[in-house]
Amino acid sequence: MDIKGVGLGLRSAHYSDILKENPAIPWFEVLADNYLIKGSPNLSYLEKIRQNYPLTLHCIGMSLGSMDPLNFNYLKKIKKLIKIVEPVLISDHLSWTSFNKQYFHELLPLPFTEEAIFHVAKRIRQVQDFLEQKIMIENISSYLCFKQSQLTEWAFLKEIADQADCFILLDINNIYVNAYNHQLNALNYIKSLDTNRIAQFHLAGFENKGYYLLDTHGASFSSDVLKLFQQAIKKFGALPTVIEWDSHIPIFSRLLEEVQIAQTIMDQYANII
Ligand SMILES: [Fe+2]
Repeated sequence: MDIKGVGLGLRSAHYSDILKENPAIPWFEVLADNYLIKGSPNLSYLEKIRQNYPLTLHCIGMSLGSMDPLNFNYLKKIKKLIKIVEPVLISDHLSWTSFNKQYFHELLPLPFTEEAIFHVAKRIRQVQDFLEQKIMIENISSYLCFKQSQLTEWAFLKEIADQADCFILLDINNIYVNAYNHQLNALNYIKSLDTNRIAQFHLAGFENKGYYLLDTHGASFSSDVLKLFQQAIKKFGALPTVIEWDSHIPIFSRLLEEVQIAQTIMDQYANII
């Protein structure tokens, strides 16, 4: 099954709107970690929505960059969910979320080093072998840099994807947030990222805290992020794109407007070289 165009992050607040209205959304991205409890009502809603829409799974618990052993209990649950919803694609983040088996509910950054590339790529390959399919890794937003970093973020992302033989989920908002927070040029990130492994884009909103941007997923995408999105489409093509909105979640019709804005940009820029 193939997916195209601008889809939406599925949130429980919108289950009934979706089931009642059957909106013209090409697909939904599902936060996998919310559907891992057997018999939960969320799962029965998901199965109903799956009857009408293709889905992708977005995970936060693989902790791909951690020094902890991979959590195969978690991966077994993800594998069960894969059997139920048959997602088109599966993703997690290029980050770590656990240490000494304690989970932090934060996507924590990695130093951009050869050692980290080797470590993370090996773990991604193990995850892919276990799940029996390739995954996408997503670039995260971050609020600190490591003195030890030897590479740019985009070179780190590309090298891991190459060594792991996985796909990339490129979050355009996260590129913008990091460029602001670490005084980089966001457009240069897009221009310098030389890969054909990108399979999906993310769009979201941030909050400007003055001296840094906080990736809140609680607002509309900014006009600057949309300009970057245009450049990403010109360079990488009209790849499937998800709008993520996780806090101060608006009514469903507002999200449909966001989808329409992003889809219009995609249609405009898809054929510009
Ligand atoms: Fe994202």
